[in-house]
Amino acid sequence: MQVMGYMVHLLEEELIKHLDPEVRAVLDVGNYIVASGGKRMRPILSLLTCKALGGDEKSVLPLAIGIEYIHVASLLHDDVVDGADRRRGKLSANVVFGNDLCVLTGDYMYAKALWLYSVYGNLKSIEIVSKAVMDMAQGQVLELKSVGDLIDEDTYFSIIDRKTGALFGASMAVGALVAGREDYEEFYRIGLKIGRAFQLVDDALDYSGSEEKLGKPVGSDLKEGKCTYPLISVIEKLNFEDVKRSLRSGEILWLREKVVELGGVKKTYERALTEVQDALEELYGIVGKDLVQPLEALIISVVKRER
Ligand code: IPE
Ligand code: IPE
Ligand code: MG
Ligand code: MG
Ligand code: MG
Repeated sequence: MQVMGYMVHLLEEELIKHLDPEVRAVLDVGNYIVASGGKRMRPILSLLTCKALGGDEKSVLPLAIGIEYIHVASLLHDDVVDGADRRRGKLSANVVFGNDLCVLTGDYMYAKALWLYSVYGNLKSIEIVSKAVMDMAQGQVLELKSVGDLIDEDTYFSIIDRKTGALFGASMAVGALVAGREDYEEFYRIGLKIGRAFQLVDDALDYSGSEEKLGKPVGSDLKEGKCTYPLISVIEKLNFEDVKRSLRSGEILWLREKVVELGGVKKTYERALTEVQDALEELYGIVGKDLVQPLEALIISVVKRER
């Protein structure tokens, strides 16, 4: 897709250009994670939303960069919290630089993002992204607090809507805002559903994906005692006490196999597809169906991805 290729090129240049801390160690960690790739899904979503609505993508560019910096900050912190050792096909930054530098560089990246919003955005856009960052932190805390527990579907969605959905929502809302739309909150809601689908697929891939393609460990969620949708969707067919024991002891191989065998991964993809279809229906209702390409293709790719 030509439009997408051009946008990614633009993004890559700007991501490096705006990363200019004075302290060498912050630059090293920042560069390490920023230059290690990543799908750039969220900033592309901002650019394509703005473009689909007739806005100028150049004006949304620094704000899209801010969105990716927020995402990168959340990855730096997430790998510390999850004790992960691989990210984007490389050793994760916490392994290379240590937890302390990653936490502090993550703080820098969050603040740099908000700085970009204060310079290139307006008060409304600052409100949208700061709220997303508050949601993300709270989602991660909720998840941490439920480690080792069996959670229900509502609790699961209250976690993922915050930790992942919020930034996807903000990505679309900011694109709409820059395009001059007063109904940007509608776009937040659409983005939230896409983020939901994105995290559902991430959780499915943690059961059935390939470490090679994903560039990060698989099977980590159960090992860390995290109960995600694949397990929740088949929990009625399992013995609760056995599952809890497994989540708390880290002996999870049997459970992982059982969840897959009972169709938990399949159900998770089905749920993700429903969220994407809902999001697309809402989008078609606002923007003409002929105008949403290639935004539509990006949204559909969320449920087809292998990385
Ligand atoms: C990983 O996000 C964190 C989640 C919300 C699951 P991505 O899968 O978008 O990570 P990159 O940016 O492509 O590495
Ligand atoms: C992370 O969720 C969500 C963030 C906001 C960073 P995960 O912990 O499942 O993300 P991965 O699988 O490590 O990328
Ligand atoms: Mg993680
Ligand atoms: Mg995590
Ligand atoms: Mg994950």
